[in-house]
Amino acid sequence: MEQVRHASKRAGASEEHLRHPVRSLTAEDYDALVALWEDAGLPYRPHGRDARARIAREIDGPCSAFLGVERDGRLVGAVLGTHDGRKGWINRLAVDPKHRREGIGRTLVAALEAHFAALDIHIVACHIEDWNATSRTIFEQFGYRPHPDILYFTKRDSAET
Ligand SMILES: CC(C)(COP(=O)(O)OP(=O)(O)OC[C@H]1O[C@@H](n2cnc3c(N)ncnc32)[C@H](O)[C@@H]1OP(=O)(O)O)[C@@H](O)C(=O)NCCC(=O)NCCS
Repeated sequence: MEQVRHASKRAGASEEHLRHPVRSLTAEDYDALVALWEDAGLPYRPHGRDARARIAREIDGPCSAFLGVERDGRLVGAVLGTHDGRKGWINRLAVDPKHRREGIGRTLVAALEAHFAALDIHIVACHIEDWNATSRTIFEQFGYRPHPDILYFTKRDSAET
């Protein structure tokens, strides 16, 4: 399901920004990022768009904002923001299970929204699988609205892409 957020209100993490400083990820964070996705139980594509070389190429690109939050020097939350010039996209939002419900997810989404707004991009979207009830709940909490009338069509070179 595509969820689209109109930028009339932010995810609202002003105090959390202070509690959970957000930094840009670099290619050196790749192993920690994969470990976080594993711990978070987030499906990813290690031989496709989440392969080390692809992430390294994208991470410093003009359309990317890959962000993370650390605790005691360890990556405990991350999100891969991208934009296509019209919309901002939230990808691979993940928080370490030991640090959930601390506002880290909210902080990361708010940081991305601010980043997109600074680029004059005022619509932010993410894809959420129908079964992912937690994600549906949290994005609704953040002000996003579902569009069940929209079907997601893709064309892929391979299933790994
Ligand atoms: C989704 C996820 C990133 C949320 O991260 P988080 O840091 O725990 O989220 P936050 O603490 O910022 O929560 C913000 C709000 O979302 C809601 N929320 C978060 N987790 C929730 C849950 N399990 N059930 C219901 N509501 C929840 C709450 O309203 C919460 O605010 P509150 O704690 O003040 O009540 C995390 O659960 C995760 O990594 N899940 C597995 C990976 C995944 O599904 N990612 C999303 C892909 S689109």
